[in-house]
Amino acid sequence: MRNLLVICGLGVAISACGGGAGGGGDDTAAIDASAAAPDAPAGEDLDMQAADFGCIRDGTKVDKFFIKNPLGHLDDAVAVATSATGGRYPVGTILQLVPQEAMVKRATGWNPTTNDWEFFALSVSGATTTIQARGVEDVSNSFGGNCFACHDQAAPQWDLVCETTHGCDPLQISDTIIENLQNGDSRCN
Ligand code: HEC
Repeated sequence: MRNLLVICGLGVAISACGGGAGGGGDDTAAIDASAAAPDAPAGEDLDMQAADFGCIRDGTKVDKFFIKNPLGHLDDAVAVATSATGGRYPVGTILQLVPQEAMVKRATGWNPTTNDWEFFALSVSGATTTIQARGVEDVSNSFGGNCFACHDQAAPQWDLVCETTHGCDPLQISDTIIENLQNGDSRCN
């Protein structure tokens, strides 16, 4: 029991702290966890705020999605994304297929269940980004689809990245719509 309390105190293992995924109010717990990442070995973390998200196309495009890493690990992230055998993305990696969604790699150990990915549902208006939801197992996109439920279907070597061949349920939107959303990002203007 003592261990459980310690873990909960760190805000790391949210599902072990009562309520659990989908129990309500866990968004706050997920955000608090970011402030409580003292156990990250290298001390590196990326706690994104709305204004930190910018034009999706400023990232490096691999296949259909864009990659950024404000902590300076972009080369490592691109290497994982282009690897034929997968790998673990470095801390600080931001992945986006469309401007309205993002996966951000938090500190090592931040949330083992999601491989330390934080999921974001965003809205974009003009130059302004708004965070509609952020968290781990309880964030859904605008179609009501749970990010983690789909992305967790990817085979383990792909670090929850779906693409079209890693084992996830397919998206309901066509490649043309994806491209239109990328090209239509109003923050790029
Ligand atoms: C219905 C299942 C499903 C849901 C729900 C879903 N995704 Fe995805 N996501 C996918 C698939 C499949 C792809 C790959 C699409 C492609 O390459 O054509 C993808 C692609 C992505 C990518 C690009 C990297 C990759 O995995 O290929 C990111 C980032 C992403 N999604 C984030 C999110 C976030 C954040 C949410 C929730 C707000 C979310 N997704 C909800 C299935 C889903």
